[in-house]
Amino acid sequence: MTAPVRGGDLWVRGGLVVGVDGADPRDVLILGGRVQQVARKVAAPPGCPSLDAHGKLVLPGLIDTQVHFREPGLEHKEDLASGSLAAIAGGITGFCEMPNTKPATTDPEKLVDKLRRASGRCRADHAFFLGATKDNADRLGEWETLPGCAGVKVFMGSSTGDLLIEDDATFERVLRAGRRRVAVHAEDEPRLRERKARFATGSSVAQHADVRDVETALRATRRLLDLAERTGRPVHLLHVSTAEEVALLRERRLGSLVTAEVTPNHLFLAAPDCYERFGTLAQMNPPVRNARARDVLRQALADGVFACIGSDHAPHTREEKSKPYPDSPSGIPGVQTTLPLLLTAVRDGWLRLGDVVRFLCTGPIAVYGIEDKGAVAPGSDGDLVLVDPSRTGPLDGSLLRSKVGWSPYCGVELAGWPVATVLRGRLAWQDDRPVGEPGGVPLSFAPPAPR
Ligand code: DOR
Repeated sequence: MTAPVRGGDLWVRGGLVVGVDGADPRDVLILGGRVQQVARKVAAPPGCPSLDAHGKLVLPGLIDTQVHFREPGLEHKEDLASGSLAAIAGGITGFCEMPNTKPATTDPEKLVDKLRRASGRCRADHAFFLGATKDNADRLGEWETLPGCAGVKVFMGSSTGDLLIEDDATFERVLRAGRRRVAVHAEDEPRLRERKARFATGSSVAQHADVRDVETALRATRRLLDLAERTGRPVHLLHVSTAEEVALLRERRLGSLVTAEVTPNHLFLAAPDCYERFGTLAQMNPPVRNARARDVLRQALADGVFACIGSDHAPHTREEKSKPYPDSPSGIPGVQTTLPLLLTAVRDGWLRLGDVVRFLCTGPIAVYGIEDKGAVAPGSDGDLVLVDPSRTGPLDGSLLRSKVGWSPYCGVELAGWPVATVLRGRLAWQDDRPVGEPGGVPLSFAPPAPR
């Protein structure tokens, strides 16, 4: 196991530094991996390496709260080296990885195994979720604060892999066993079983959103909110896909007890068009729904219903995706495309530039209690992404770094492109190439609040 070098010195000159409230021309001085000074002009110590950021946007390194990097067991789709390469290529300097690997991450040994695999191979800072099962439900509270653990993930409905907590009694045990916020995939398994049986023969991917219908998502989300209220355990609702769940979140007003996340896929794609154009490549769980749902999600984002945007980067090979529905696996890669897509949303007027920082930095930090990240401010880790706003044009598939090499967004007109990524003061990515050795280390988290 190689110990990654923790921090470097870098003087980033003349960029437009972006925060949640807007952008200002600023120099940034990073010393020993931490931001030391942010000012109109800073004087760097002699010999300090520098990076010219004139004409570039300078954002804090972004955090992707939901990725599937497939290692161990499914490395033909992705691994921690390739997934984290795609991450830094997209300006993501920290990620939380999901437990539905093979084997699933269900105990401390498997968590430590992932951390070992990440060390010296991972190009971004990282943490791994523990997957809840009926067998580990009562132990998760002891394990959730282990170093490098992002918390606990619950699948209420089955998706890729075999993690599942389908009944409220077991779920309640999970919620009563610990204190950190629990991340939840909310689709109702009993309803899903019924729907799958009904649609079994002769169905096409165009029906994916009917098989896993609005009611399937809504029922689970309703159960989740009830359980969160009953137990007082904070939860995080992943990849909200329906207008009905948005209405429920607005109506129940559960404040910080229930935070929620949306994916770029649910914000940028819509049925039936996506299934007609991309077939099973657009198949994910929960499904991409119609344009009305997409528009409600966009409005909810603007209104503050969502704390963050997670890519749900879920790569499967083209060959796997070309199996006939429903044998085709669900999931869409996306860790590299979130930032350029959101820049496009800014250009198109339905997001503000500061929202990119809000949903990919401050939001993730607040949801999971990530320490030392998320702002270009003294004391924070020197993680930055430089964006060239003049690098516009259609997304070029040859620039994608995920092992699977496809994206439904190839050809989409983008409004900017990340040209350099800095991890704790060291260049990790520049001009479409990785720089230096992989230097990712485990993310650290604030201790959970007492209950
Ligand atoms: O579409 C999905 N793919 N949804 C999930 O919940 C899991 C993911 C995967 O791991 O492939």
